[in-house]
Amino acid sequence: MGTNPGVDLSVEFCGVKFKNPFILASAPPTTTGGMIVRAFKAGWAGAVTKTLVEDASSIINVTPRLASLGFRDPEKRLKKNYALENIELVTDRELTIWLKEIEELRKKYPDHVVIASIMDDASKPEGWQSMAKKCEDAGANLIELNLSCPHGMPERGMGSAIGQDVELSKRVTSWVAEAVNIPVIAKMTPNVTDIAVVAKACMNAGAKGISAINTVAAIIGVDLETLVPMPNVSGYSAHGGLSGPAVKPIALKAVACVAKETGAPVSGIGGISTWKDAAEFILLGASTVQLCTAVMFYGYSIIDELTSGLATYMEKKGFHRISDMVGASLDKLVSFGELDNKTKRKASIDNSLCIQCDACFVSCRDAGYQAITRGSDKIYKVTEKLCTGCSLCCQVCPVEGCITLKP
Ligand SMILES: Cc1cc2nc3c(=O)[nH]c(=O)nc-3n(C[C@H](O)[C@H](O)[C@H](O)COP(=O)(O)O)c2cc1C
Repeated sequence: MGTNPGVDLSVEFCGVKFKNPFILASAPPTTTGGMIVRAFKAGWAGAVTKTLVEDASSIINVTPRLASLGFRDPEKRLKKNYALENIELVTDRELTIWLKEIEELRKKYPDHVVIASIMDDASKPEGWQSMAKKCEDAGANLIELNLSCPHGMPERGMGSAIGQDVELSKRVTSWVAEAVNIPVIAKMTPNVTDIAVVAKACMNAGAKGISAINTVAAIIGVDLETLVPMPNVSGYSAHGGLSGPAVKPIALKAVACVAKETGAPVSGIGGISTWKDAAEFILLGASTVQLCTAVMFYGYSIIDELTSGLATYMEKKGFHRISDMVGASLDKLVSFGELDNKTKRKASIDNSLCIQCDACFVSCRDAGYQAITRGSDKIYKVTEKLCTGCSLCCQVCPVEGCITLKP
């Protein structure tokens, strides 16, 4: 790997070799074969096609279909989004066109991985099976079952309408697994009580791996002038799916839960923008990771920083291969009852770093234990007897390292 000769970024996932763990998720960055070609050229190891359906003429999108939350800084010409809601449907491009594109991609880029994402409703075994077979014949390396889209499609008995039902998830997975020889992975919705139960059912039904998560069902906001929730489609809206940095904690928990409780190979998805995010998913059990929103915001070229950052981190930590790193944090994740409740820690304020913003004082006074006092000289002091070590002061302090917990 260039500057990190001791590190091999390649990884095997469900028996398929990826030159690095970075895959484009099924989404706008994989709208066409031509776009996937550009992504492969940029360095992405694989791509999941935008979800394919048998009858693309039934897919009619609305405009707008996105809404975001972020911080604007017009002076720096910057908007940093931390959450994206979409009400976009699956692909509206004909299956026959997609099959030709998959075939071409596989011929021209044999070292790259093409994953065909497919969807139908749970009453159509022949629909699922024939689509999966066609994708296999076109050369797809893997099939991803979209059991998880939370908007638009569930009303037609598809997406999360299947993934929220263990029996239906099992049924659909077994139909497809029986029909094709290539590995099948099932894409989970986070909108269930226990994601591991659904993942386990799919693995028992013949899936070779799990991808998690699809978007989180959400309403991103309401326009207080028009009273219309966002995105505003001619005066109305519908709930959508949330993605981007805001969903990363939900996705990390889902991935860890699936990896720990099922042992399945996992492709981690949800809020990954940087190599650090990717490393966290891998440490919690993902052997590949998929990205959508970060690519929508910053483009395919983020792959350079993803691969170089991850390789440098692996070298520093002594991980030679991705497989050495997969799940390395899982045994540090225990049940709450197993946590140390003996060691007590107290807040300690370094007044030489303090900017006298009052944040710690106010939070501790009104939502803590009144352990922080503020002198007339604006010197903050912790009364150790009152401090319970909750760490709220550390969370609100804007200066890194100013407040720490000490045993
Ligand atoms: C506009 C948009 C369209 C999407 N379309 C699909 C789709 O067709 N099939 C699918 O399985 N997931 C779809 N997704 C979900 C993504 O593949 C991914 O699971 C989700 O966005 C979380 O990852 P992220 O935070 O990196 O975006 C879509 C996401 C967005 C934002």
